[in-house]
Amino acid sequence: MALITLQNVSKIYPPFFKALININLQIYKGDFIILTGPTGAGKTTLLKLIYKEEKPTSGELFYQNIPYSKLKPKELSFLRQNLGIIFQDYKLFPELTVYENIKISLILSKKFFKDAKLLIYEYLERFNISQKAQKKVKELSGGEQQKVGIIRAIIRDPEILIADEPTGNLDPVSINEILSILKDFNKEGKTIILATHDPIILNQNLGKIVKLNKGELVEDV
Ligand SMILES: Nc1ncnc2c1ncn2[C@@H]1O[C@H](COP(=O)(O)OP(=O)(O)OP(=O)(O)O)[C@@H](O)[C@H]1O
Ligand SMILES: [Mg+2]
Repeated sequence: MALITLQNVSKIYPPFFKALININLQIYKGDFIILTGPTGAGKTTLLKLIYKEEKPTSGELFYQNIPYSKLKPKELSFLRQNLGIIFQDYKLFPELTVYENIKISLILSKKFFKDAKLLIYEYLERFNISQKAQKKVKELSGGEQQKVGIIRAIIRDPEILIADEPTGNLDPVSINEILSILKDFNKEGKTIILATHDPIILNQNLGKIVKLNKGELVEDV
């Protein structure tokens, strides 16, 4: 059984812009899906449908076999608990510190525990930004903010990771560091859905490449 299924999914933004056209896709537990395609192809829209920030105009999505439109509040919160999302525009709290931004994510996921401070610093070290822990997010560079957004999503150890262009602002060394973390994550059986046009990512044989163009699935290798 697929973990997430998209069945004849279309998304029209009012009044009549077709962002996604009749998409059929099955995502299985343990998949590493690389969603690619030019700017405006519909990658972010497809991810938003998966994490239920947007609703399809027609068609249906399924979590396991349950239609999204019929998910009970409890099942929906279960789905959300199991998701880690790296947003294309980070969505951090600019007035809070790096440390606080990450801590909030752990608290919300109910994974904050006594030694969480150590865990947070471990990740900050790994991403080479521990010296920024007590800085407000608004004082960080774009790439540093991107790193915080990534840590916030993966530190809670989600079953499904959604990553929207997670490396757009990073240098090749940082990109490779993140890829190695994502690979390990995937090896543990976690499911990853990553949208990118980064050649460094596309040239590695990470998983299944899904190509979008003008809202259509052109290739599903
Ligand atoms: N809320 C919205 N209202 C109207 N149109 C939208 C909205 N969100 C996205 N679009 C349009 O839908 C199309 C697909 O947008 P989307 O953000 O999914 O593209 P993308 O593939 O993620 O692009 P990028 O690589 O630049 O991130 C774009 O043409 C965009 O203008
Ligand atoms: Mg996008």
